Order: sequence, then structure tokens, then C-alpha cells
Amino acid sequence: MRRIRINGRRQLKGFIPISGAKNAVLKLMAAALMAPGESVIHNVPHIQDVFTMIDLLKTLGVGVGFEENTLRLLVGEHIGEEAPHELVRKMRASIQVMGPLLGRLGRVRVSLPGGCAIGERPIDFHLKGFRQLGAQIREEHGYIYAEAKELHGVDIQLDYPSVGATENLMMAAALAKGTTQIRNAAREPEIIEVQNFLNQMGARIRGAGTDVIRIDGVEALHPAEHTVIPDRIEAGTYLVAAAMAGGEVTLHPVIPQHVSSLIAKLKEAGIEIQVEDDRITVHSTASFRAVNFQSLPYPGFPTDLLPQVMAMMTLAKGTSVIRETVYTNRYKHVSELRRMGANIILADRSAVVQGVPALSGAEVVVPDLRAGAALVLAGLAAHGTTIVEDDGHLGRGYDNLIGKLQGVGAEIMALE
Ligand code: EPZ
Repeated sequence: MRRIRINGRRQLKGFIPISGAKNAVLKLMAAALMAPGESVIHNVPHIQDVFTMIDLLKTLGVGVGFEENTLRLLVGEHIGEEAPHELVRKMRASIQVMGPLLGRLGRVRVSLPGGCAIGERPIDFHLKGFRQLGAQIREEHGYIYAEAKELHGVDIQLDYPSVGATENLMMAAALAKGTTQIRNAAREPEIIEVQNFLNQMGARIRGAGTDVIRIDGVEALHPAEHTVIPDRIEAGTYLVAAAMAGGEVTLHPVIPQHVSSLIAKLKEAGIEIQVEDDRITVHSTASFRAVNFQSLPYPGFPTDLLPQVMAMMTLAKGTSVIRETVYTNRYKHVSELRRMGANIILADRSAVVQGVPALSGAEVVVPDLRAGAALVLAGLAAHGTTIVEDDGHLGRGYDNLIGKLQGVGAEIMALE
């Protein structure tokens, strides 16, 4: 357990560097399994989920080198076919190796991902798509076994624009016989990253970023080299930090379009935002209006920024109504925010947040990655000292969170 101490109400001033996108790099690492040889991925963040995925690739026989922010993945002619329980339990994204292994080997065994702090998160959309591609699927002793003599192209209509299912099915279809269309596909920027990387490996995919993706299966793929896009959720988290604490902060590199829904909400709240090609500057007096919003699949407002903006709304002038539509339970940070003086009423998937004049520092416990970020942001804006108890959640998705906030003047430090 790591304890982080924050002395609140310090203006933030300066420059925050943004790392590579967690929710892209994990999938590119899985995609590398599809081709024997050495693939290289640049701009890889030093976060726990990357190290967990490295462990998984190593159990599958991949040689891994990780220097600075460059990952070298040496994939052999023979690779394993099982994602073991202890790794899938740690990180749901382990299931993203299913598509690659099914595509390349025609079989895969993956432990069923346990429910995690933000709802049960089944993988039925993934399995339904694999069956349509021709795989036989059975579940036994908490594992999923998938086998396919041959995957064949098919028209898949996703019941929901699931990010992971879209990516898993794209990867399996890349080596199927014939053409696959995925309709109602997820449109997140990370999906475009997977398409680009697979095409650099010799796949023939187009349409990522729209709701119809077409994959013309090929015989084999070859290794590729790719630089990952900046992390839009990390960037969004720091935009909200600056808005809440007040001051002037510039983020770089960012792709402004990837955080356009957040920028629109912050402007609606009265925050001044300057956007240049690959940098964004926030000017904030820490005084802002309440705004209403709901989380939606991209390009709607991202669910992974809802806890952070909710923390901001606890100090807004007025009342904000917030609705989480992606997960069944993404409000584990609410009880902790209330302990800091927030006035939040929950009703099913909605939250009514009545702005209060101030939050007061308290001891709070991090329940999951993005809820933890929300509590850190609340500590930056609260009167007095906040102690954030974190059992490794923050490090899963934020590279050098404390150092980056110290770099703009936050009084934040790890106690042990
Ligand atoms: C990805 O998760 C991200 N993770 C999540 O970010 C993000 O919140 C989510 O997309 C939505 O944007 C990674 O990319 C590693 P989904 P994923 O499949 O792929 C339900 C973070 O903090 N569902 O779009 O799991 C599911 O339960 C993480 O970085 C099914 O019911 O998201 C959820 O309610 C958190 N059946 C909803 O759909 C399925 O087969 C969205 O899930 C699959 C999903």
C-alpha cells in the first residue's frame, strides 16, 4: 500500500509531458503475437499494465526488451496458447491476446476475467464474434477454450460498440479466410491505432474510427515498428487537475481532437482553453460553473474521465447532473469524495452534485484507477492535507503521476 500526501490549494503552473496511450499499447503488444520476428513499439509508458502484459507475453514465449520507452518484442515460430489466471485476474486487457492467438494458432485458452471494481464486465460480445468467425468455444473450470481449424470472414453486428471486442475481432479476422465486416464497431482512437499497426504488419483493414470496419484476411503477417499516440485519458486527467487547482498548465504532446468532448465541457464550465496543433494550455482561476454530462462511447464523453470531472463538479457553482452509461458501477469514488465534504446524491447510474465552497483534506482510499485519479485531483483543490492510500491502482495507468504534478508546483509526495 502506498500513501500519497497532498497539501491542497497550490496553483499549478508549467508544462506536463503526456505519455503513450495505455489503452493502445496493450493491444499493439498483443497484436505483435501474430507475426514471428521482432516488432518494435515506441513511446511506451512505464505503467504497471505494460509490465503485466510483458509478463503475459513472456509466458507465451516472447523475448522482451524494454529500454527507455521502446519495447522490442521477439516473437518465435512457436508461441504458447494460454493466458493464465494470475495474469488475467490482474488485468482484464489480458483477454486481448485471444484474437491474435486464435488467428495465428487456431486455438487459445484464457482464464475468464474476474469482475473488477467498475462492474462485472463480461466478454460475451468477444465470444459471440469468435463463434461467427468459425471458432468453437467452451468454458470449463473458469477458463475459456477457443479452437478453429480455420477462421472465415463474416458479417458481424456488435450488440454494443465494445472497444475490446472490436479490437479482438479485428485481430482474429486479419488472418481469416475472406472478408469480415464489423458493424456497430467502437470508434475510439485506440481502434485506429490497432488498425494502423496491423496494416503495418501486412493486414488489410480499413474503416477504423467509423462504425463499420472491413478486414480482408491475409495468409500471414510480418513484424512492424510503431510509435504510440499520446494518452488522451492521461491528458484529460491533467486538464481537469489544472481547471480545479487553478493556474496555467500546458500539456504536450496531445491530439486535441481526442479530448474534444472534455474541452467542450470545460469551456462550458467557464475554463479558458487554448488549443494549438499538439499542445493544449489551460488557464484557470479555479472558479467555474456546474455542467451536466453523461459518459458515452467515443466520440461521446469518455467514461474514463467521468470520476475526474465529477471531482471538479463538487466545487462548481451550481448543481450538475452526471450519468454513467458505459459501466454498471463507476461511483466507488463518491463515498470518498463525500468524506472530503462533497455533496453528491446517487440514483442508479446518475449522480447529482451540488457544488460546495470548499473540500477539506482527508484520508481517502483508492478503489480503482480512474477513481484514484479523481481523489488525487480533489486533494489538489482541497483545504489542508489529503492522504491518498493506493494499493497499486494509480500506477497501473499513470506514468510518473507524482513527478508530473510536482513539476507544475503541486505539493504532492509519496510517503512510502
Ligand atoms: C476499454 O475497456 C478500456 N480498457 C477501458 O479503460 C474503457 O473504460 C472502455 O474501453 C470503454 O471506453 C482498455 O482499453 C484496456 P468495452 P473494454 O468492451 O474494452 C460491456 C481504463 O481506465 N461489455 O467497450 O473492456 C462492459 O461490461 C479502462 O483505462 C459486455 O457487456 O470496454 C462495459 O460495461 C477502464 N460484454 C461496456 O460493455 C463484452 O463482451 C464497455 O466495455 C464486452 C463489454
